[in-house]
Amino acid sequence: VRTRVAVIGAGPAGLLLSHLLDRCGIESVVIDSRTREQIETTIRAGILEQGTVEVLAETGASDRVLTAGQKHEGIELRFGGEGHRIDFTDTVGRAVWLYPQHEVLKDLVAARLAAGQDLRFGVTAERVEDAGTDRPRVLARDAEGYAIEIEADVVVGADGSRSVAREAVTGAYGGYFREYPFAWFGILCEAPPSAGELIYGNSPDGFALISQRSPDVQRMYFQCDPDTDTEAYDEGQLWEMLQARVPGTTLHEGPIFQRDVLRFRSFVAHEMRRGRVVLVGDAAHTVPPTGAKGMNLAVADVVLLTDALRALLLDRDETLFDSFAETARQRIWKAQHFSWWMTSLLHVQPGASDFDRMRQLGELRTVVESRAGSTYLAEAYTGWPLPGTG
Ligand code: DHB
Repeated sequence: VRTRVAVIGAGPAGLLLSHLLDRCGIESVVIDSRTREQIETTIRAGILEQGTVEVLAETGASDRVLTAGQKHEGIELRFGGEGHRIDFTDTVGRAVWLYPQHEVLKDLVAARLAAGQDLRFGVTAERVEDAGTDRPRVLARDAEGYAIEIEADVVVGADGSRSVAREAVTGAYGGYFREYPFAWFGILCEAPPSAGELIYGNSPDGFALISQRSPDVQRMYFQCDPDTDTEAYDEGQLWEMLQARVPGTTLHEGPIFQRDVLRFRSFVAHEMRRGRVVLVGDAAHTVPPTGAKGMNLAVADVVLLTDALRALLLDRDETLFDSFAETARQRIWKAQHFSWWMTSLLHVQPGASDFDRMRQLGELRTVVESRAGSTYLAEAYTGWPLPGTG
């Protein structure tokens, strides 16, 4: 197979990139080891920055985000038994949208297939070769085990945190790395929303996040040990633990139909590009989930890379392609900092002293009682401006 851009991974980054490239008249092939059904039904993130929503809506990637998505103009930080609202409209005049990632993926897959995109499910990339030449190749295998070779002008690794493409760019583990001594226990339940907006709760027992998915399905998380078994608790215990972490509010309970444990890590690959092979999204960086930056950061990478590829492939101008990694890195580290900060602001460190605990409450108070503090949170949460999408 021969194409201009070979994209490994049909997640938000890979599919959006192929959509934006198509709009510039640049052809691509997208492969993913998963089935279409797996991609469209796996429950992942839920919060889109305003800039992400604008890209999806204005480029025709998703018609539904503005109608099916729900605009949120603030969040609640709950600590010491009291709720404190951070008002995004008032502080920064921007907002976020609650629209689940798998809905974004359904929209993107539908749009790509309607446009006649060469999008192959069940095709597993095994290796990327010849990164240093202007004809890099992806060696892959389809579901029946037949070898497929894709030769391209540029190969993009949008293949997530266990990226195969990363090996060709930076070596398998070349990156800045941090682990955390806790994880999130996540549930999906059938119940009405417990609040109009998301609640980020800090309590002596640890963190909880009361999020939503739809009028009938809610998503909630609480801080747990990374080795927790998903079957360790019965439903009554789960509700008790969630409720204890957001004192002063009453959760609407309902049958819990999915449980998972999300491990936390921060990672930034040392390199995002080697020759004609580029990494975007989770393949290049991972953030802890607090603050919902993961998918939004992937979208920002892709918007930037689209401009660089357009210049490279249509105008033979390498300037933006050469500066892509450095430009992307600036936003990535701001998002890394924000995700780390939201995490440390709200979680209880195992072994925290009384001093640590009181200091944390002082920090929370600093954020909610200071316009500057609230404004920083709102600005980062709703997202820094994206480059124009042309
Ligand atoms: C969700 C996840 C997050 O990490 C977050 O900060 C907000 C919402 C969610 O899954 O709904």
